[in-house]
Amino acid sequence: MESMIRDIKLAPSGHDKINWVKNFMPVMAAVDKEFSVSKPFAGKKMVITLHLEAKTAYMAEIFHHAGAEVAITGSNPLSTQDDVAAALVEDGLHVFAWHDCTPEEYDTFINKALDIKPDFVIDDGGDLVHMLHTKRRELLSGIVGGSEETTTGVHRLRALANEGKLEFPMIAANDAYCKYLFDNRYGTGQSTWDGIMRTTNVVIAGKNVVIAGYGWCGKGGAMRARGLGANVIVTEVDPIKAIEAVFDGFRVMPMDEAAKIGDIFLTLTGDKDVIRKQHFENMKDGAILANSGHFDVEINIPELESLSVSRRTVRKNIEEFKQKDGRKIYLLAEGRLVNLAAGDGHPAEIMDLSFGVQFFSALHLLHHGKEMTKGVHLMPEEINTKIAEIKLKASGIAIDALTPEQKAYLNMA
Ligand code: NAI
Repeated sequence: MESMIRDIKLAPSGHDKINWVKNFMPVMAAVDKEFSVSKPFAGKKMVITLHLEAKTAYMAEIFHHAGAEVAITGSNPLSTQDDVAAALVEDGLHVFAWHDCTPEEYDTFINKALDIKPDFVIDDGGDLVHMLHTKRRELLSGIVGGSEETTTGVHRLRALANEGKLEFPMIAANDAYCKYLFDNRYGTGQSTWDGIMRTTNVVIAGKNVVIAGYGWCGKGGAMRARGLGANVIVTEVDPIKAIEAVFDGFRVMPMDEAAKIGDIFLTLTGDKDVIRKQHFENMKDGAILANSGHFDVEINIPELESLSVSRRTVRKNIEEFKQKDGRKIYLLAEGRLVNLAAGDGHPAEIMDLSFGVQFFSALHLLHHGKEMTKGVHLMPEEINTKIAEIKLKASGIAIDALTPEQKAYLNMA
């Protein structure tokens, strides 16, 4: 099967990136060591749709070493790294992705990958599962199961399942402790600011930073902004999350008010139109807008464009929208997830846990998928503990064990 990538000659730099992240992914190294020998996925086919950068590539290679035939596509037009895609082709995977693909190319890539007729799928955001349930329904009966990487994808899956239309079991990998506690919070927290800072090169200290959404990603974004010295303002629609933000020490107010005083705005909600016309109209000259939620709908870009007299790229990943009154508003990475579109995504140590969740979820489906009902499932709890144990051991950190008396006292005997 032919791959579709930008340029195979880019592979050496892709291999360098993959080899670098391997140094920081002990859980995945342990998985590779064990399952490249036993090859549990021999004869099985897998389609992966994920942000195609080095950590994802390492996981895809591990599935390949574990016996699977793997076809992989990107889960966002701007997060694919062409050198990493080329390295994967050299390593024998089917790759359908290039950076900055059009929406049509994006669909074509998923379609092509599905031509391998997968037994298992790994999705990030729900586009792969959506394609299966709309244009590739002939493949549904062959699919044992899959897993979903992110919050927005899990929302889409649950909506499909609630209508009784999800045709195979999907594990909500996002909802495993070893995923969201670390990936959404610490991963997004660090990598989002990395993306913003390497793109703009502005100082964060002293700025009014507006964080929209105080879920797992928002908590990480707010925590790291505070660490960088920003004055952090949180906007929310959930009263409980709003109180949590207050007790965490942040100012909370509606976006209508925050719009007037923010220097940098960051959306992490999974919702749409979080920043829109009425907000752009009141923003300060020079306001910077970024999104780290899954889709590029959190900042209403068509409305921003319609308010503007000009739109132009002023630096890679920075667009300037000039307003009628002369104010300039800057948008980073076309409103796509700034940590991946303008950076390298989460640190490898974090993705080590997330992809541990993905690997063991796939293994669980391999052994139990045929007995699982159609619908959304959680990863078995004991796998979280297992992944955390490997991580602690690899980090040289020991913890206490319960004594028999403590187990009895806690009713855990
Ligand atoms: P979450 O469900 O924990 O939090 C979302 C929060 O946004 C909730 O507290 C909700 O009340 C709030 N919210 C919803 N609409 C809002 C609005 N209009 N204004 C203000 N707040 C609003 O979700 P999580 O896990 O934090 O994920 C958020 C988004 O980030 C999702 O799209 C997810 O897929 C994506 N994500 C992105 C990652 C990245 O690498 N950039 C990594 C992980 C998740």
